[in-house]
Amino acid sequence: MKKFYITTPLYYVNSVPHIGHSYTNIACDTLARYKRLMGDEVLFVTGTDEHGQKIKDAAQAKGLEPKEFVDTIVPIFLGLWKKLEIDYTDFIRTTEPRHEKVVKEILEMFHEKGDLYEGEYSGWYCTPCESFWIETQLIDGNCPDCQRKVEHIKERNFFFKLSKYQDWLIDYIKSHDDFILPAMRRNEMLGFLKNPLSDLCVSRPKSRLSWGIEIPFSKDHVTYVWFDALINYISVCGYGSDTEKFNKFWPADVHMIGKDILRMHAVNWPIMLHTAGLELPKTIFAHGWWKIGGDKMSKSKGNVVNPIEMVDKYGVDAYRFFLLKEVQFGADGSFSEEALISRINSDLANDLGNLLHRTLAMVEKYFSGVVPERRDLKHSDEVTKALIDKAGTLGPEIIKGMDNMDFSYSLNGIWGLISTANKFIEQKAPWKLSKENKQDELKDMMYDLCGVLSMVAVALAPFMPDTSVKIAGQLGLKGIEKMNFNDLKWGVLKSGTKINKAAPLFPRIETT
Ligand code: MSP
Repeated sequence: MKKFYITTPLYYVNSVPHIGHSYTNIACDTLARYKRLMGDEVLFVTGTDEHGQKIKDAAQAKGLEPKEFVDTIVPIFLGLWKKLEIDYTDFIRTTEPRHEKVVKEILEMFHEKGDLYEGEYSGWYCTPCESFWIETQLIDGNCPDCQRKVEHIKERNFFFKLSKYQDWLIDYIKSHDDFILPAMRRNEMLGFLKNPLSDLCVSRPKSRLSWGIEIPFSKDHVTYVWFDALINYISVCGYGSDTEKFNKFWPADVHMIGKDILRMHAVNWPIMLHTAGLELPKTIFAHGWWKIGGDKMSKSKGNVVNPIEMVDKYGVDAYRFFLLKEVQFGADGSFSEEALISRINSDLANDLGNLLHRTLAMVEKYFSGVVPERRDLKHSDEVTKALIDKAGTLGPEIIKGMDNMDFSYSLNGIWGLISTANKFIEQKAPWKLSKENKQDELKDMMYDLCGVLSMVAVALAPFMPDTSVKIAGQLGLKGIEKMNFNDLKWGVLKSGTKINKAAPLFPRIETT
C-alpha cells in the first residue's frame, strides 16, 4: 500500500476562519479523498498555530489569558471542518505537549551543532507578520510584506544559520522540478535566493513576549512562532516518539499553502530539515488568493467572507464545487455570491441536476423505474459511441488533473461528460423513440444514461462527497462508499436496478 501524507498550514487562531482557510482545507480534503480512493494510506493533517504576539494581543483585547482565548477559537475551526466535511486524520495544536517536546528537541539539536547562536539584534519588527526587517528592506518605512507600521527594537536573541545552506538549497530547488509548485512560484523563490540570506531570529525575549515555547537553554526567551509552527509537520507524524509512523509517512508528499507563506516553507523549512538531517517534503504547492471583487479581503474593508454563512446559505457541496472549479488551482480568484449563484444555476442545477432528473423521470416513465437491459455494445450508433468513448476518458482525465493538483481540470472532465450526455438526449430524442415504439434503442439509451450517471457519482466522490452519495442513492447504485476509481467504467450499474427518483439535487436559485 502506498502512503500519502498531506498537510495544511496551521491556522492562526487570533480570529475566526474565513474563505482562505476553507479553500486550502477543501483542496487538501479533495486530494486526500482521491488518494484514499486510489488505495493509498493517507495521513491528512490540519491544525492551529497558537503562539506569538498576534494571538497574545487578540487574547488581551478579550481580557483573557492566551490559552483560555485560543481554547474559545479552536472549536470554531473544528466546527467549520465538520461542516465542510473535511475528513482529516489528525488535528494538531501547537500548544500540545507532543508538539512542544519536538520543538525543544530541535532547538537543542541545532544549538549543540552550533547552527543556532546568540547575538544582538537591532532593527525593525513587524508584529502582524512576526518578522524582522532591515532598514533597506522597508517600503516607505513600512513592512514590505503587509505594508503596515514597523517598530524599532534592539535585543539579545538566538539566530539560526540560514545562510550556511543557501547554496545547497538553490541546487536542491534547481534539481527537483516538483519541489515548489506551480513553476512560477519556484522561479519566484530562485529569484529571492539570488540575494544573500540573513540568519533567522528564532527567539523572542520574554520581556517583550512570553507567550510561546520556552527556549530550553535560555529561561529568558521563547521560540519564534514560525520556527515553532513549521515543526508541526514532523511532530504530528511521530518524530522522536513513534519511529515506525515517522519512517512510514515522512517525508510529506504535499505541503499545501497559500502563496503568501511560501518563503517560510520553501526557504526556512527546508534548511531546518536539512540541518536536522531529515528529507525534504516532496512538494510544496502554493495556491492563489481569493479576492472579493477585485479587492483584497480584510477586516478593515469589512469584506471578509464567512464560510459558515456561505455553506448555510448554499450548501456544502456547492461551496466546495465553486472554489475548486472557478479558478485553476494556483491562480488568484475573485469571489462573489453572484458568481457562486451563477455556477450553481448553470453547472449544478442545469447541467448535472437536469441530467439526473430527466434521466430518472424517463426510466420511471418508460420502464417503471427499473434500469433496463442493454443489448451488446455493437448495437450503438455514432452518437452513442461518442458518449461511450467520452465516458472512457473520464478516469484518465480525472487522474491527470489530480496528479497535477489541477482540480478544475478534473472537474471540467466530469462536466464534459455531463454535457455530452445532455446533448446525447437532445440528439437521440427518446420521446420520439418511445412514440415510434423503438423499445430496444430506448432501453440501450436509458441504460447508457444511467451508466454515465453512475460514473459521475463515483467521480464526484472526492469533490462533492454528499452529492456523490445522493446521486448513487437515486440511481439505486449500491456500495459507492467502497468504490474506487477502478470502478469508473462502463457497466458499474446493473440492469434490473430499481431507481429512487427524488427531488432535484440543486434547485435553481432565483435572483431578482
Ligand atoms: N499560521 C501561519 C501558517 C503556519 S504553517 C506552519 C499562517 N496562518 S494564517 O491563518 O494567517 O493563514 C493561513 C493560510 O490562509 C495561508 O496559507 C494563507 O495563504 C491563507 N489565506 C489567507 N487569506 C487568503 C485568501 N484571501 N485566499 C486564499 N487563501 C488565503 O499564515
